[in-house]
Amino acid sequence: MIKDYINNNKDRFLSELFELLKIESVSADSKFKEEVDKAANWLVGEFKNLDLDNVEKIKTKGHPIVYAEKILDHSYPTILVYGHYDVQPADPYELWDSPPFEPTIKNDKIYARGACDDKGQMYMHLKAYETLKNVGEIKFNIKFMIEGEEECGSDSLEDFVVKNKEKLSADVIVISDTSIINNENPSITIGLRGLSYMEVELTGPNRDLHSGTYGGAVNNPINELCKIISSLKDEKGKILIPGFYDDVQNYDENTREEINKVPFDLNEFKSHINIGDIYGEESYSTVERIGIRPTLDVNGIWGGYTNEGAKTVLPSKAFAKISMRLVSNQSSKKISNLFTDHMKKLCPPSCSIKVTEHHGGEPCIVNTKTKGYKAAYNAFKEVWEKEPVPTFDGGSIPIVALFKKELDLDSILMGFGLDEDAIHSPNESYGLFNFYKGIETITSFYNNFAANEK
Ligand code: BES
Ligand code: MN
Ligand code: MN
Repeated sequence: MIKDYINNNKDRFLSELFELLKIESVSADSKFKEEVDKAANWLVGEFKNLDLDNVEKIKTKGHPIVYAEKILDHSYPTILVYGHYDVQPADPYELWDSPPFEPTIKNDKIYARGACDDKGQMYMHLKAYETLKNVGEIKFNIKFMIEGEEECGSDSLEDFVVKNKEKLSADVIVISDTSIINNENPSITIGLRGLSYMEVELTGPNRDLHSGTYGGAVNNPINELCKIISSLKDEKGKILIPGFYDDVQNYDENTREEINKVPFDLNEFKSHINIGDIYGEESYSTVERIGIRPTLDVNGIWGGYTNEGAKTVLPSKAFAKISMRLVSNQSSKKISNLFTDHMKKLCPPSCSIKVTEHHGGEPCIVNTKTKGYKAAYNAFKEVWEKEPVPTFDGGSIPIVALFKKELDLDSILMGFGLDEDAIHSPNESYGLFNFYKGIETITSFYNNFAANEK
C-alpha cells in the first residue's frame, strides 16, 4: 500500500521538490534574503496543503523558521522533525554542468544545489507524512521545525529552541541530513563532529610596501602566516596546539575494531575524489580519521596581490580561515580559546595578530539504546531488507547537541545521502533511489516509533 502510493505519486513528489530546488535560498549571502524568505513561504504552503495545524512562518533576527504540527491525540507519541531549507552558496557557478537552481535529472540523480543537503532529504518527511495520511493509520503526533540558517550557524534557531521548550516538547527528534555508506549498505549515523571556526588576520607593516626597497628587512605577514600554519601539525598529522587532545574520547581496541568493520571501500573513496593516496593522522584508519578524530584545516587563505600580472609588493596583511572538527568530549569554546592563545604566542614581534571566532558547535553521540534508535533500525531492516550499521559521520549539525541540552531529546540521524552526492560542491546531486526509498523508510520509522512508544 505504502509502496504503491509512493510509486503512483512519484512524478508529483519530484516536481514539487523541483519547485523548492529552484528557489535560491542561500542563507550566508544577504543578496539572497528574499529568496530565502520565498522558500519559507513555499514550505508554509506545503504544510497547509498537508492540512497541518498552527502553520507558522516565524520571523527571527536572521532567516525565518517554519513550524507546523498535527496533534491527533495527546496519548500518542510525538515526533519532532527537524531539517533546513537553506543551502550553501553555489559558487563557483562555472563548475556546474547544469545551473545549480535549475534541477536536472541525469543518471537517475537530481542535480541541484540543496538536492541532498537538505531540501531533498527534508522534503522526504513531508511526503512520508502525506503517504501515511492517505494510506495509513496515523498513531502519532507530528511537529515540523524547518530552519533557514543551518548553513550559517543556526543562531536564530538556538534562541527559538531555548524560548519554546513547551511548544517543542516531543518524544524524539528525527533528522534526515546525513549520509549512508552506500545503497547496498544502509547505515544510521551515531556520531557527528563539532566545530570551531576561526579567522586569523596577521598584520606586518602599516601599508603595502615596495618589495625591493623594504624586502628582506621587514617581515612579510603572508610568509609568516604560512610558517605559523605549517607549525600547527607535525609530520604524523598530530595537531600541536597545547591541550588540544586533552578531552578527546579515546576508544578501546574492541570498539575501534567494531568501527572499522563498516564496509568502507578505500579504492572507491580515492577514485571518487581522484587522489593518488590518502593522508591523515598516523595509526588511524580513514574511517576513524573521519569519524572519531579531530582535525585542523585551512578553509581559505588570502592576502597580497592576486590579480593578473606581477606586482612587486610586500603586503601589509595576510588572512586565513581555519576550522577544527571536534569529537566527543571536546568543547568548542575551550578549543577556540586554546587556538587563540596559541596563535598569539606564535606571532613574532615583527607582526601583530587578530584572531576572531565564527560559529562553533558541539559534537554529538547518539544513544543506540533508545526506542527512537530501535525504530530507525527496524525501519531500515524492513524497507532495505538489510541490517543498518551504526556509523560516525565527519560533518556537523551543531543544533543536535543543543536539542539534547535544552529539550533533553535524542535526535535520530536518519539520512540517506551518499558521499558522492557532492554536498557543498558544484554538481550536488541526490539519487532518485535514495529519495523514494528514503520516503518509504521514514514512513516505517514513524510507524515503528508509534508502535514502540505506546
Ligand atoms: N548536512 C550537513 C552536515 C553533514 C553532512 C553531516 C554529511 C553528516 C554528513 C550540514 O548541512 C552541514 O553542512 N553542516 C556544517 C556545519 C555548519 C555549522 C555550517 C558542516 O558540517 O560544515
Ligand atoms: Mn545539512
Ligand atoms: Mn550543509
